Amino acid sequence: MLITNIGELTTNVPSGEDRLGTVTDAAVLIQGERIAWVGPAAEAPAHTDVMDAGGRAVIPGFVDSHAHLVFAGDRADEFEARMSGVPYAAGGIRRTVAATRAASDDALRRNLRRLVDECARQGTTTIEVKTGYGLTVHDEARAARLAAEVTPEVTFLGAHVVPAEYAEARDDYLDLVTGPMLHAVAPHAKYIDVFCETGAFSPEEARRVLAAGIEHGLVPRMHGNQLGPGEGVQVAVQMGAASVDHCTYLSDDDVAALAGSETVATLLPGVEFSTRSPYPDARRLIDAGATVAIASDCNPGSCFTSSMPLMVALAVREMRMTPSEAVWAATAGGARALRRDDIGAIAPGMRADLVVLDAPTRVHLAYRPGVPLIDSVYKDGVPVA
Ligand code: NIG
Ligand code: FE
Repeated sequence: MLITNIGELTTNVPSGEDRLGTVTDAAVLIQGERIAWVGPAAEAPAHTDVMDAGGRAVIPGFVDSHAHLVFAGDRADEFEARMSGVPYAAGGIRRTVAATRAASDDALRRNLRRLVDECARQGTTTIEVKTGYGLTVHDEARAARLAAEVTPEVTFLGAHVVPAEYAEARDDYLDLVTGPMLHAVAPHAKYIDVFCETGAFSPEEARRVLAAGIEHGLVPRMHGNQLGPGEGVQVAVQMGAASVDHCTYLSDDDVAALAGSETVATLLPGVEFSTRSPYPDARRLIDAGATVAIASDCNPGSCFTSSMPLMVALAVREMRMTPSEAVWAATAGGARALRRDDIGAIAPGMRADLVVLDAPTRVHLAYRPGVPLIDSVYKDGVPVA
């Protein structure tokens, strides 16, 4: 299929000063699951199956590199209390753990699929899904298995919080996470994650969890520096994490460590929005030379939105990113955070994952916040929304 008459095409293939490789009056040829040709519409190869984009903008599909979608129940009451002044704390996770353990496989699967569809309708073509609301060997393995039904990007987050039944025996829980639980989950997962924060796991504990995962062939990532300053970022960089996520409270040393590493700083502005917290400073990270991604962190506690267009708008309005930087971070940045080199750009050989916007430019994603601007979505060359 040839998509032609694209008013503004964002390829993410750098061209001169333009990191997003913008082509105006463009066309894209899709063959099977892959992109076959990209260039000016006037030079496009002749094709019988033609889709006229009508001057609309086309961008790579969003790569949402951080989401918690295997869960039951919601915490609207907690959100309401927070909006009346009760601060966010890591402990709310245990409520979702109780609801998730009590849910049937089918109930979890239905909720997961509903959310993945919701993401697709908003332009997300790749999503990472974490475990972390089971916290028993059986429930974590079940979450990973269900997640693997909908995405190859599955993360083991047994170290989300110490479950209530281990409150007096943290070390025993760590033995479980780094032993039998890891054994049961690793076959279904690609990454290992840990919530390194006051109220969750210490830097030493985080190191132990990530090291165990690495030994099992998993790629490390981390929740760090969300609720206050700490050693999370330094541990993540030292362990070669693909990404450290949240990065809300960073010291100059943290920024320098990220800038001098391959570890992506993944910012999750929906969390600050939904917990009424100060936003991370993306400008400082980008100016220092760090690679920045943005993701939804969709979860029932700290941020119950799956909207990547909203993340782009928040990144621009609240984190001092330009619209182009935010779109890059939500596409190519997410691909870097997942260490994928076949998504996040529109170029020959890449997967045919792209979004036609109901707008003439990508800037409209931030310029028209809250407006449904997703016209159509292709994943592996197939329309999914
Ligand atoms: O990324 N930080 C840890 N996990 C989630 C919150 C999960 C919850 O509150 O249920 C987060 O914000
Ligand atoms: Fe998270």
